[in-house]
Amino acid sequence: MREYSIAAIPADGIGPEVIAAGTTVLAALQKRLGDVKFNVETFDWGSDYYRKHGVMMPADGLETLKKFDAIYFGAVGDPVVPDHITLWGLRLPICQGFDQYANVRPTKILPGITSPLRNVGIGDLDWVIVRENSEGEYAGCGGRVHRGLPEEVGTELAVFTRVGVERIMRYAFKLAQSRPRKFLTVVTKSNAQRHGMVMWDEIAAEVSKDFPDVTWDKMLVDAMTVRMTLKPQSLDTIVATNLHADILSDLAGALAGSLGVAPTANINPERRFPSMFEPIHGSAFDITGKGIANPVASFWTAAQMLDHLGETDASARLMRAVEQVTGAGIVTPDVGGSATTQQVTDAVVEAIHSSNV
Ligand code: IPM
Ligand code: MG
Repeated sequence: MREYSIAAIPADGIGPEVIAAGTTVLAALQKRLGDVKFNVETFDWGSDYYRKHGVMMPADGLETLKKFDAIYFGAVGDPVVPDHITLWGLRLPICQGFDQYANVRPTKILPGITSPLRNVGIGDLDWVIVRENSEGEYAGCGGRVHRGLPEEVGTELAVFTRVGVERIMRYAFKLAQSRPRKFLTVVTKSNAQRHGMVMWDEIAAEVSKDFPDVTWDKMLVDAMTVRMTLKPQSLDTIVATNLHADILSDLAGALAGSLGVAPTANINPERRFPSMFEPIHGSAFDITGKGIANPVASFWTAAQMLDHLGETDASARLMRAVEQVTGAGIVTPDVGGSATTQQVTDAVVEAIHSSNV
């Protein structure tokens, strides 16, 4: 029996709904496979916890999480508690404290989901965006001077380190190498930003020498939005900075038909710390409690988690089950269906148990 300990942090908004759906599906996989066990422990951290305790998680939160094999995260964001508190109080300390420097965002058009792009269907858009997740434009480096006065200044400094760029580049080349097309696109803005971005280009060229079987090209981020929209077939694996990939991955989600199905993995490739898996969509308090949250992103990120744990068969089975269900039109309103979270979850559980998945 292979056993894994998973820390679930459902947190805010629809987080609890989609994480509950995800743990139901994990339990179904466990039953179906018979030789693997997921021990899920749930933590009540988040904005409600903040209202009670004045912090998003306990001071020893990271210490507690450290012993788990993976973290399954819902969403943070609250109508009342400011975003910078919810984010910097829970999700970012986990990403940074556990050195989850590779943020991996697969995008493809799932069966039953329509791209807003004309003549673009399944297989035309199958990308993985690798986002640098530890530094760059979101390093948190900057400050405010002359606060509140007319001469106030705010700075936000992008920090690129050789170690940081090289490790994300290596991760991206390796990922590209593992995919059938072995093709990587390196995104920068090295025409206008002539320091850190030029260093990215140089490091990409250096690292590429260790991956002779990977074809790669370079794109400026503005031109990249055009290529993603007009020639989605021409892309496969993509690597970009924290800010650029943040923006490009939203575009990717939209072009694939919905942000509601998009997953993300925050990976510590060296496995010194647990990695964290979450849907991209956020807390969505406008639909919280209505039972209509799309659980597909939560299932897809569970599949990423299974891959990371080495349970590749379980991961593939889960994705086949999800694709069978979306293909049958059992989808939530955000992607044009009328199914509830529960109905989609039940259908995926049934598909996991059926012999053709
Ligand atoms: C994402 C989100 C977050 C990010 C926000 C909430 C800060 O947009 O996962 O892309 O950019 O990291
Ligand atoms: Mg974003």
